[in-house]
Order: sequence, then structure tokens, then C-alpha cells
Amino acid sequence: MTAAPVLGASADPRLLGRDVHRIAFDERAISARVKELGAEITAAYPDGDLLVLGLLKGSFVFLADLVREIRRPLHVDFLVASSYGAGTVSSGSVELVYDPETVLEGKHILLVEDIVDSGRTLNRLIAVLGERAPKSIEICALLHKRIAGALAREARFVGFDAPNEFLVGYGLDHAENFRHLPYVASLR
Ligand code: PRP
Repeated sequence: MTAAPVLGASADPRLLGRDVHRIAFDERAISARVKELGAEITAAYPDGDLLVLGLLKGSFVFLADLVREIRRPLHVDFLVASSYGAGTVSSGSVELVYDPETVLEGKHILLVEDIVDSGRTLNRLIAVLGERAPKSIEICALLHKRIAGALAREARFVGFDAPNEFLVGYGLDHAENFRHLPYVASLR
């Protein structure tokens, strides 16, 4: 991958005085890929009840764009699991903070993630959600680092294979900053 120039805070006031190493996926690339994912998902679910389940907080931007590209009836709910603190390396333990209120039984569940990193979050969630007798569970991740060991369920829909860098923007954070960037960038 070619290195793009460092983007300074003077070039984007949303950067909070920090430079980002480079933009990994820009707005145009994300928008085009999200449209494609929407079409893939639409085609994959010809019938049945579809519940799009967004994993907060990271998926909120992606999910909002994605559901508007899915051309069939669906419901939306969210769940919250937290594995990262203020650091830049996964801590390993996954805590369920908010459980979806929607009944999952008999429904197609599409779990929407911003990024698959170590895979620990997904492995925990697939186990928990699988106990609720959904008709199917699939994963849609905007980014996939392809570094996870054994995944309980591989993501069926993936936006981009991502570099093994600390990525922020388009929902992804560092210590809660940068979620509002309209692009995905890597931090130094
Ligand atoms: C991040 C990210 C994914 C998960 C991926 O969430 O949004 O959900 O970690 O990491 P893993 O594959 O190593 O488990 P985080 O816990 O930071 O919470 P957030 O979505 O609120 O940012």
C-alpha cells in the first residue's frame, strides 16, 4: 500500500490538533463500497424478517449509511459490548453493556461491526446471540484486519480488508475521539 502524505490538523480541524498518519479509506471509497454491500445484503435476504443489529458505539456511522442502501423491509436494534479502554491494543475481555430488546427468535440477524480486529468481540457475541434461536446470524463488517485467530463465524459481508494499524474515523475511535471523521485514517 502506498503511503499517503500525513494529514495535519491544519488540513482538517476535526483532528483535534493531532496529525493522522494517512487516510486509509476516503469518503468516496467508503460510499461506493457501502452501496455495493447494501446490494449484496438485499440479494442475500429474499424473504424472512431481517433484524440489523448494530454493535455500538463503533458501528453507528456505518450502520446508518448501510441500512439506507438495503432495499427490503428490516428492523434496526443495537447492542453494546466494550473491549477497548483508552489504549490502542485490545484488552481481551468483552463486556456486554446493553442487550437488544428486540426478540431474535426466528429472525435473520445481521450483526453490523465497524471492524474485526482480534475477533474476540464477535466470538463472544455470536455465542450469546446464538442462544436466542435466530433463523440465521451473519456478520457485516466495514473493516477486517484478517489477523483474528479462530473466528466462531467469519464475516459474510466485508467492506475492506484493513491494514494492521490503529484506525480511527467513520465511527472508530481512539479514547472516544475521531468517531466523526467521514473517512478512515490511521494514527501514528
Ligand atoms: C472495537 C470495535 C469492534 C471491536 C473489534 O470496539 O468497534 O467492536 O473493538 O475488536 P476485536 O475484534 O479485537 O474484538 P470497542 O470495544 O473499542 O468499542 P466501541 O465500538 O464503543 O468503540
